[in-house]
Amino acid sequence: MKIALIKGDGIGSEVINQGVKVLDAVSERFKCSFEYEEVLLGGRAIDETGVPLPTETVDICKKSDAVLLGAVGGPKWDGLAGNQRPEAGLLGIRKALDVFANLRPAMLFPQLKSASSLKEEILADGLDIMVVRELTGGAYFGEKKRVKIENGIKAWDMMSYTSYEIERITRIAFSIARKRKNKITIVDKANVLESSRLWREVTGEVSKNYTDVEVAYMYVDNAAMQLVRNPGQFDVILTENLFGDILSDEASMLTGSLGMLPSASIGAYKTGIFEPIHGSAPDLAGKDMANPLAAILSCGMMLKYGFDMENEASAIFEAVNSVLDNGYRTVDIMQPGMTAVGTEKMGSLVAENVQA
Ligand code: IPM
Ligand code: MG
Repeated sequence: MKIALIKGDGIGSEVINQGVKVLDAVSERFKCSFEYEEVLLGGRAIDETGVPLPTETVDICKKSDAVLLGAVGGPKWDGLAGNQRPEAGLLGIRKALDVFANLRPAMLFPQLKSASSLKEEILADGLDIMVVRELTGGAYFGEKKRVKIENGIKAWDMMSYTSYEIERITRIAFSIARKRKNKITIVDKANVLESSRLWREVTGEVSKNYTDVEVAYMYVDNAAMQLVRNPGQFDVILTENLFGDILSDEASMLTGSLGMLPSASIGAYKTGIFEPIHGSAPDLAGKDMANPLAAILSCGMMLKYGFDMENEASAIFEAVNSVLDNGYRTVDIMQPGMTAVGTEKMGSLVAENVQA
């Protein structure tokens, strides 16, 4: 399998290096082989080539079987115009590979219950939510503009969706619900937004083909509240791009740390993008402090969703589980009585565990 590596900015390279370490352990144990090719995107691409998404990067990613991505962005590039920022590179590669379905599982490792921002009694039923976020539409990609007006400036980002875009992500969300607890909550703002009303119509039509799946609709403000009030009620959450961005960060904190959550972005072609949901955390960069588990678990998602390598994916998941069982913690999930380890060490522990 050919994997394009986008290490990116900030802690990106540190966490991706640990992911590669773990993948190498997988290939050793299961006798498969992964080939890596590093490409530039984001801040580093701006520094070295002048643009956030060089054409060469797009070409190589398209020819690869998967893209493994760290994180992009940082204060250094904050002053740039919107379409020249590191984030524009990230959005560009998502669009170029047409990865419209972003799967963000928020699950609680029982060992980390006390690291959650919620009281333990609220987590009594555990927490296992799959946020399915639409990734290539909505306000992120709609018309953006600024114009001068009489008394100042006006700016807009158009949140638009076509029925086709809604339909294809809805089918994916329903088929995922079928492999889980058969429940889907569709989150929108249909009391205000026309695009949300279209989401309701289209998802309602699609749901007729999945009568075995229980469907609920929820406004996004209520969903934000219900996630901290009673997260156990959710199985699959399906939502548009911007709402999904926000709710998935919220959901991640319920699991203890943003540093734990992986994601998979899949779409029409074979090449998916696999990345931790956390950002580049520039303040932690180069300090061996970042939690590499989200990146490592993203490698697990790559094996599962990208390569259909279920056993290999489980091996990663189980290795993370036993490293946590053995009491190792990075600083973001540190608890009394546990053993604090840095980024490198955490990666090595998981890799050793995969091989054991
Ligand atoms: C994410 C990130 C990105 C997004 C940023 C970095 C553009 O927050 O993957 O959730 O908003 O999609
Ligand atoms: Mg985000």
